[in-house]
Amino acid sequence: MPQHNASRPDTAPIIKVTGLRNEFGDQVIHDNLDLEVRRGEILGVVGGSGTGKSVLMRSIIGLQSPTQGEVEVFGEPTLDRSEHDTVEIRKRWGVLFQGGALFSTLTVAENVQVPLREFYPDLDLALLDEIASYKVVMTGLPADAGPKFPAELSGGMKKRAGLARALALDPELLFLDEPTAGLDPIGAAAFDDLTKALQKTLGLTVFLITHDLDTLYAICDRVAVLADKRVIAVGTIDELLALDHPWIQEYFNGPRGRAAVASQERGAARDAAAHPTEVAQLQSGQRSQGGMADDYARDADAGGHQRSASITGSGERG
Ligand SMILES: Nc1ncnc2c1ncn2[C@@H]1O[C@H](COP(=O)(O)OP(=O)(O)O)[C@@H](O)[C@H]1O
Ligand SMILES: [Mg+2]
Repeated sequence: MPQHNASRPDTAPIIKVTGLRNEFGDQVIHDNLDLEVRRGEILGVVGGSGTGKSVLMRSIIGLQSPTQGEVEVFGEPTLDRSEHDTVEIRKRWGVLFQGGALFSTLTVAENVQVPLREFYPDLDLALLDEIASYKVVMTGLPADAGPKFPAELSGGMKKRAGLARALALDPELLFLDEPTAGLDPIGAAAFDDLTKALQKTLGLTVFLITHDLDTLYAICDRVAVLADKRVIAVGTIDELLALDHPWIQEYFNGPRGRAAVASQERGAARDAAAHPTEVAQLQSGQRSQGGMADDYARDADAGGHQRSASITGSGERG
C-alpha cells in the first residue's frame, strides 16, 4: 500500500525532477530539466527521436546517474541512496521498457514472476503462480498465455505480457516507454484503453513516453514536451496549442496532429451514438473509429478502427 509521508499532502508531486543534467561524452542530453508528475495522472512525454525521453525515464528510476540535478519519487530522493532504500522505492513502481524486453527463455508467467522473486524471494511457488495468472488475465491476455514463450506471442500480446510484469508488485506508479510502438492501430487503441482502465481502477500514476498522437489525445491528462534539452512545456494539449513554440505547433497542428483530433472526434461521436453509457465512463478513452484519411493514415481498412500515424510516420509506430 502507498506509504504517504505525513508532512506531504496528496497534492505533492509523485515525481519531481529538478535541474537535471545528463551528458554522454561531449553530448549534452539534458540541461537544467525540471518536471513534476502529479499523483493519479497519465502524463504523456513527447519529443523528437533522440531528445532524451528514455534517458529521462532511466534517470528517474535510477538506472542512469545524472551529472547534476535532483530526482524525488514519492517524496523521497532517489539518487545516491543506499541499496536498501532504493529497493523500498523500486517496489512501488513498475516499468515497461521500450521494446518490451521480455526474457525470451522464460514463459510469460515466469517473466511476470521475475520481480516477485527478486523482491520477495520467500514466496512459495503456488503463490507465485497464482499472482502471475492474475496479472496475465488482468492485462487482457488469455489465461493460457502463461505457459507460452515470448516468441509464440503477437506483438500486442508481448506488450501485455510486459505490462503484466510491470504490474507484478502492485505498483502505484507505472513507467511505459513507447508501449504502442510497433502495434497495428487496433492493437494500439486496445493497449491505450487498457492503460486508461488500469489507471482508473488501480489509481495508478502513469509516466508514458509516446510518439503516438492518438494516445496523447485519447488517454493523457497532461503532456510534457521535451525539446532544447529540457521540458519546454507541460499542460493539456489545449494549453500546449496556445504556445507558439515551433516544434509544438508542428507536432500538434501539423497534418498528423489534425488527423488525430479529427479521428478522435469522429470516434467519440460515433461511440456516443452507439454506447451512450459506456461513453460517459470512458470519455477520454474513445478514439479513432470511423474515417481518417490523409497521407499518414495506415491500415485504413483495419476493421473500422483507424489511427493517425505516429510522428515518425512510416514503418513502426514510434
Ligand atoms: N548509455 C548511453 N551512452 C551514450 N549515449 C547514450 C546512452 N543512452 C542514450 N544515449 C544518447 O542519448 C540521446 C537520447 O537517447 P534516448 O533517451 O534514448 O532518446 P529518445 O528520446 O529517443 O528516447 C541519444 O542521442 C542517444 O544516442
Ligand atoms: Mg526512447
